[in-house]
Amino acid sequence: MKTPKNLLIVIALFSFILTLDAQNKSLDKDQKMNTFIDDLMGKMTLDEKLGQLNLPSSGDITTGAANSSNIAAKIKEGKVGGLFNIKTVEKIRDVQKIAVEQSRLKIPLIFGMDVIHGYQTVFPIPLGMSCSWDMTLIEKSARIAAQEASADGICWTFSPMVDIARDPRWGRVSEGSGEDPYLGSQIARAMVKGYQGDDLRKNNTIMACVKHFALYGAAEAGRDYNTTDMSRIRMYNEYLPPYKAAIDADAGSIMSSFNEIDGIPATANKWLMTDLLRKEWGFKGFVVTDYTAILEMVDHGLGNLKEVSALALQAGIDMDMVADGFLNTLKESLDNGKVTQQEIDQACRLILEAKYKLGLFDDPYRYCDLNRAKTEIFTPENRQTAREIAAQTFVLLKNDKQTLPIQGKGTIALIGPLADNRENMPGTWSVAGDFAKSVSLLDGLKNAVGNTAKVLYAKGTNVVSAPQLDARISVFGKPTKWDKRSQKEMIAEAVAVARKSDVVIAAVGEAAEMSGESSSRSDINLPENQKELLAALLATGKPVLMVLFTGRPLTIGWEKANVPAILDVWFAGSETGDAIADVLLGKVNPSGKLTATFPQNVGQIPLYYNHKNTGRPLPEGKWFQKFRSNYLDVSNDPLFPFGFGLSYTTFDYKNLKLSDSSLTADGKMTVSVEVISLFRIYTKFASAGDDLKSSPYSQGFIILTNGLVEIMIV
Ligand code: BGC
Repeated sequence: MKTPKNLLIVIALFSFILTLDAQNKSLDKDQKMNTFIDDLMGKMTLDEKLGQLNLPSSGDITTGAANSSNIAAKIKEGKVGGLFNIKTVEKIRDVQKIAVEQSRLKIPLIFGMDVIHGYQTVFPIPLGMSCSWDMTLIEKSARIAAQEASADGICWTFSPMVDIARDPRWGRVSEGSGEDPYLGSQIARAMVKGYQGDDLRKNNTIMACVKHFALYGAAEAGRDYNTTDMSRIRMYNEYLPPYKAAIDADAGSIMSSFNEIDGIPATANKWLMTDLLRKEWGFKGFVVTDYTAILEMVDHGLGNLKEVSALALQAGIDMDMVADGFLNTLKESLDNGKVTQQEIDQACRLILEAKYKLGLFDDPYRYCDLNRAKTEIFTPENRQTAREIAAQTFVLLKNDKQTLPIQGKGTIALIGPLADNRENMPGTWSVAGDFAKSVSLLDGLKNAVGNTAKVLYAKGTNVVSAPQLDARISVFGKPTKWDKRSQKEMIAEAVAVARKSDVVIAAVGEAAEMSGESSSRSDINLPENQKELLAALLATGKPVLMVLFTGRPLTIGWEKANVPAILDVWFAGSETGDAIADVLLGKVNPSGKLTATFPQNVGQIPLYYNHKNTGRPLPEGKWFQKFRSNYLDVSNDPLFPFGFGLSYTTFDYKNLKLSDSSLTADGKMTVSVEVISLFRIYTKFASAGDDLKSSPYSQGFIILTNGLVEIMIV
């Protein structure tokens, strides 16, 4: 039916009036904020302004004794703009009290934290979350994280981390959303929306901080903090879109990265921080450095602390995390004409604006409600959601002869260094998690089978065989639980357990701290001692399935060739064990799809799906051809490509249709395809009369190379 023209005109006029009204309201709000801040800044001394630019780590504050902490004196003198690494309402309230009662201008502090994938209720690591491809779930996880963090006094998170990464040697690949700029942008937007909601002044929303701006994921050789160098074309097309998407979603702050761009560290890079970020993209929030990034520019060779601090301010940095460079040197630089009063004022204004937008001037204790802290954190509902989300992130990499799902009957052997380790389940960057309360795989499996099956456990081997390496991966309260017995003795015990069982689950992979910050690896195989364990288990002739814990793509060619079933579970957060059991026992059909390519070997890196053609491409399906772009010793194929992931059922697809025959640069095209689910799973589990279409087993989607997805279940 056609809408009459007159009606269309009325609708257009009405929406125009609504837009004008919204614009006026927002202008009014800005006007109010500007007047408030003008007035406040009119009263501030230079020192007090510089104090706002200073973000120290909280240090030694203990509950009830904030006043005697090292930082208290500085807060009273107005030398601190915010604090991070401090949690609990009691402590934050005490510290805020010092700022608003004992500093001259009573300016509240902003409290930040690395709330990366959940707060106390921990969700899967971001790389795992991205494999769900589900923006609703991702946003929901950020919403719950914000709800819990804000109930514990936090109003600002150093998340989302949106660095595109194509090098699995880089440990921080675990903290991002993989290799695709389109998906990365969708996730960036969903996370910002989840944290900030529709109103930053609500006491259950927190300000996002997009990081690490920019290109941190392209560190050379996957070595953390290393140099980055790339063309503008690649930057704009492949690495910058997720940062831009987060900013378009109104992220309140952004964090500078450690690396260089065009030979200049990001933290002193005026092109990046001013020309691109402010002038081209119109970013209105504030920029904080990464931890000591200003001081690190001394080692980059850019000058002493005073000189590099001036460079950072001139480039467009507003807040100095930990380096104390802004606080201690900018006054002298101002006297010497190296920085201007306007530059200092602008930075100070942006930080005050952030506090204003969070509602801290109205109520500095907005996030300090003891009752919320008691009732809104780590709730059964949040944990249940975390469990459901976790199960959506697992990627089934192999499933020969329908090894999975298993039946919860008979005797199940659970073997491996990660089977009984609650502390490792949250994975990297889970600072607010209560690690001991996580559900291990052993816990989860026992919960799931109850009395219907017997679960036998053996450790089988350590995570790694060298004690020195083991010490390096057990630093932050996530011990690997080193077993002093010999490898031979542990394997013998595991084999004996396997022999008594009907099926063997091998819980192997990386420990949580083998990925994340400062956890680069040059060898991304499964440690040799774990392979040895797998070989011994396979030799028993029992069906062996591998549950793989990892924070990055691994080179698991041998495992792919030899182990009948592999389920990649990343690090799935506080509810890991229950979520894995849900999938192993067929309660949930695995549907995660890889967002980062698994290479065959380290020599192929960087290997990603959206690479450009060369002038000498290898014909599809071929390996070596002389004078073609390929290797002598390995094919160009990945071990597991981007988008890969099996499920318990079998899909076929046909009738692929494009909505148009050509696509313009800013156009849209829909690809639709009929997906036929063969429901093979039902030969094992379905009962007569089940509604196949509404069953979890009928879920599924096809990922097409241009990233557009349409689902049709028939
Ligand atoms: C990391 C950031 C983090 C910051 C504060 C740095 O070392 O690179 O991602 O937000 O520390 O904890």
